[in-house]
Amino acid sequence: MNKAEIDKILDRYARHPGQIIAILHEIQESDRYLPEDALRYVADQLKISVSQIFHIATFYKAYSLKPKGKHICNVCLGTACHVRGAPLVLEGLERKLGIKNGDTTEDMEYSLSTVNCLGACALGPLVTVDGDYFGNMNTAKVEKMLEQVKSKGNGGASPAGESKEALAPSEPVRAESLKPVVAEEKAAPAPEPAKAEKPAAPKPTKAAVKKVLKPKTPAGKKGGKKK
Ligand code: FES
Repeated sequence: MNKAEIDKILDRYARHPGQIIAILHEIQESDRYLPEDALRYVADQLKISVSQIFHIATFYKAYSLKPKGKHICNVCLGTACHVRGAPLVLEGLERKLGIKNGDTTEDMEYSLSTVNCLGACALGPLVTVDGDYFGNMNTAKVEKMLEQVKSKGNGGASPAGESKEALAPSEPVRAESLKPVVAEEKAAPAPEPAKAEKPAAPKPTKAAVKKVLKPKTPAGKKGGKKK
C-alpha cells in the first residue's frame, strides 16, 4: 500500500489517534500484513511514537508483521476440539501444506495458525478457512477441504454437490446419540414371562359331594325323630 492509499484511510478516520485500531485493520486487510514502512508513516501522521504503534501491532493476534497467505487457515485447539482429535488435524494440515503452525506456504497461498475456541464446540474438531467453517474434521477430510478452498478461490467452479457438502457445517451432536448402549437395551420392552399352567383339579367323586352336603349335627344332641 502506497502513501496516497494510506492517506485515504487516514482521512476517513479524520486522522484521529483514537482510531488507530481501525486504521491498522484496513491496512492489514489490504496488504494481508502491516508493512514496517506503513506503520512508520501512520505513526508520523497521527503524531504518535513508533514504539507505541509497534506495541499495538504486535499485541493483537489479528495483526501480522509478516506477509500472510491468500487463505487463512485456523485450526481450533480449544478443549472440546482437542479431545476430539484437533492435534491430528493440525498435523495433517502441516503435512499437506508443508509448513508448520504459524507459517505461510512459499507460494503465499496458505497461512496456518491455531486458535483456542471458535464458539462452535459441538462441531469439533473445527477448522476455519477464510471464515468458512469445516466441522467434524479429521485427517482424511483435509485434502478435500483444501480442494474446496482452492476451487472457491478460482470462482467457485467446483463440481456440483461437493462444495456445498464440505462448506456446510456438520450436524451438531445430539444428546440422544450420546446415550450408552446399555440404556437403550434397558428401554426395550422386556418379553413377557410365559404363564405357568395350573394343574387341572381332580374331579370330585359322588361320595365326596354327599359328605360335603350332609348337614352338621349340633354337639351333645342326638339326632332322632320328633315326638
Ligand atoms: S473448542 Fe473448538 S470451537 Fe470451542
